[in-house]
Amino acid sequence: MSDKIAYSRHGDIAVLSVQNPPVNALSQAVRQGLLDGVTRAEGDTGVRAVLIVGEGRAFFAGADITEFGKPPMEPYLPDLINRIEASPLIVVASMHGVSLGGGLEVALGCHYRIAVPSARVGLPEVHLGLIPGAGGTQRLHRLTGVEAALDVMTTGRQIGAAKAHELGIIDEIRDGDPRDNGIAYAEQLLVDGAAPRPVSGLPLPAAIDWDGAFEATLARSKGQISPAWCVRAIQASYENDFAEGLKAERKIFFDLMQTDQRKGMIHAFFSERAVGNLPELKGVAPRPVAHIAVIGGGTMGAGIATAALLAGLRVHLLEMSPEAGEAARERIAGNLAGALKRGKINDEQHATILNSALQIVTSYDTLAEVDLVIEAVFEDMEVKKAVFGELDRVCKPGAVLASNTSYLDINEIAATTSRPGDVLGLHFFSPAHVMKLLEVVVADKTAPEVAATGFALGKALGKISARAGVCDGFIGNRILSTYRTCADHMILDGASPYQIDTALEAFGFAMGPFAVADLAGLDIGWAVRKRKRAEGLDSRARDTTYADKLCEDGHFGQKTGKGYYDYAGGARARVPNPDVLPLIEAERAAQGITPRTFTDEEIVRRYMASMVNEAAKVVGEGIARRPLDVDMVLLFGYGFPRYRGGPLKWADIVGLDGLLSDIKAYADTDPYFWQPAPLLTELVATGRTFDDLNKEG
Ligand code: 3HC
Ligand code: NAI
Repeated sequence: MSDKIAYSRHGDIAVLSVQNPPVNALSQAVRQGLLDGVTRAEGDTGVRAVLIVGEGRAFFAGADITEFGKPPMEPYLPDLINRIEASPLIVVASMHGVSLGGGLEVALGCHYRIAVPSARVGLPEVHLGLIPGAGGTQRLHRLTGVEAALDVMTTGRQIGAAKAHELGIIDEIRDGDPRDNGIAYAEQLLVDGAAPRPVSGLPLPAAIDWDGAFEATLARSKGQISPAWCVRAIQASYENDFAEGLKAERKIFFDLMQTDQRKGMIHAFFSERAVGNLPELKGVAPRPVAHIAVIGGGTMGAGIATAALLAGLRVHLLEMSPEAGEAARERIAGNLAGALKRGKINDEQHATILNSALQIVTSYDTLAEVDLVIEAVFEDMEVKKAVFGELDRVCKPGAVLASNTSYLDINEIAATTSRPGDVLGLHFFSPAHVMKLLEVVVADKTAPEVAATGFALGKALGKISARAGVCDGFIGNRILSTYRTCADHMILDGASPYQIDTALEAFGFAMGPFAVADLAGLDIGWAVRKRKRAEGLDSRARDTTYADKLCEDGHFGQKTGKGYYDYAGGARARVPNPDVLPLIEAERAAQGITPRTFTDEEIVRRYMASMVNEAAKVVGEGIARRPLDVDMVLLFGYGFPRYRGGPLKWADIVGLDGLLSDIKAYADTDPYFWQPAPLLTELVATGRTFDDLNKEG
């Protein structure tokens, strides 16, 4: 018997305890152990019931995702579940922690299900580009009805025990130890004379309009295909017997297993967990952080303060004047009211945060005791240097000093203090209490424990943190600046902002680059262009000025109601701003360009090639440690479609050699912009992929 399953007897009940830390994934050894356990129980004299219970933090987190993409190993999960369900003994699942995917499917194969109140269940396979593949699509709706089953499967969300009980997924909820609960429940079932009760034998609920549900789910899924296939899998249970339904489910499951979407989403799953684990910070203890200061309470400072307050930290927010401080307090109060409304905090927590955890101040002398400071003042080096001078004067030794700058040189900022080892960048994204990404910018002299503190803070705030080195724009904004420039070049050559946005939204981006610019504020890009022109543009670089004209007329995008789009009908009802195309045409004429047409496919190809090329430079220069760091920055900060895994995973999938050839071909007409990244050239020459670099660590 596998060492993953402990077999024990409790009177006439055989207990199978699963021990596969950390989350009891259903690896081959676990499946074999369960199969052997059920067989042993059936041959064990006097046993009348079997209890399956997980040790540690979960019942089962599902199939072992590390086995995906490899040849399947027996016993297969659907066969094991059928075997459990067919047992003449009563089989009980006692659930705690999570029962996800194959884990819930095992429970559905049991005859009775009991759970502790804190248990959560779900079928999250769609988040991996799959559908439930071990009977979930054939059994769940027999308990819940089709609509609820589809909701669980197509959203992949976890539901609590009470809701699962209401839906009929769980038979009993009982507080206490899962093993004791399971034994007591099984004993009671035996006393009551209960018989095995296979879910597969329950009648089918009313059917629905399958084609309508398929199309509606597809339309909702923004290009992701697996949610809609849940509909077809359930539909199969109405078209033939249970065994044939299972076969249909299995076929869809394996077809999806071959897709790029599955590869992209599993890459995202593991990268999301790997991005915050840096080999060089293993064993480096972060400094304790309970009390922070935020300097500047504008858009970003208020958002950062909100995130910290919601995470239970004390916050001193420093503004230039009592009036500016009051405005910052109002911004934070607005954010907190949203959190209260969405149930993230209750009335009491809301009051505590506003009345005591948050202090608005104007004097640096009040910051002597804080553990960490995040500066979020105007994007101006001289202003920032003055702030860091003050912080150096008042902060206690060991306090971590961070800047939220978007583009400025953290080394230069650090050099103005007497303690550059304590200085780093913590680059949040707007709105900072909502967006998941945090770039932890490690400067030349940043001490390892200071970098580790940045990551620990990110974790405390519920962020996905990626390490970045110092350069103009760090990882994300540097790459953004390049692919945005590529889009501007396509506009000069004949594409329209609306065609580009539409093509990229069809590719899967949450928003196209021009809609993003309108959201962020066109003044931001304008300021960057002015700064770069002041620094001196390379004579070979193509420049565009049409967007400056929009700004000169006071059109900054959504916040002024007009930018590339007109928002008179509201933020979601954008329509093209009719002033934009004439400005573009005038600029083409001034530059002597005869416009040509672009296909949507070419737009995506060029845009992605520019993104991948810059990302390869970012990795090659060590600004990002690994390709997966870039992928996670684009996924969590820039609306890159998760089902494509990230730009560098996408590049691996479509093929690096083809991309490099395209880049070289584009360079024929613009060799300055399209300089192939040395790392990309090297990978193609050596036949390796970006993912190979991830594996090297
Ligand atoms: N297989 C393999 N490893 C898994 C895993 C799984 N199903 N679930 C989690 N892990 C690993 C994680 O990679 C992580 O490893 P690391 O420590 O080396 O980074 C470790 O377990 C702990 O995971 P988390 O850091 O995510 O721990 P949390 O406590 O934050 O979350 C969790 C736990 C809610 C279980 C979360 O890990 C999760 O959502 N896991 C995936 C669940 C899932 O998608 N299940 C469906 C699988 S597909 C399936 O079952 C197909 C079937 O229908 C045939
Ligand atoms: P903002 O203009 O909304 O806010 C800046 C605030 O700083 C103002 O409230 C101002 O009163 C205050 N301030 C200025 N000088 C100060 C000083 N010496 N002492 C105390 N307070 C001072 O600017 P925003 O957008 O919040 O940006 C702040 C920083 O965050 C900038 O460095 C910016 O580049 C960066 N950033 C901005 C993002 C965005 O989307 N807006 C995203 C990520 C970073």
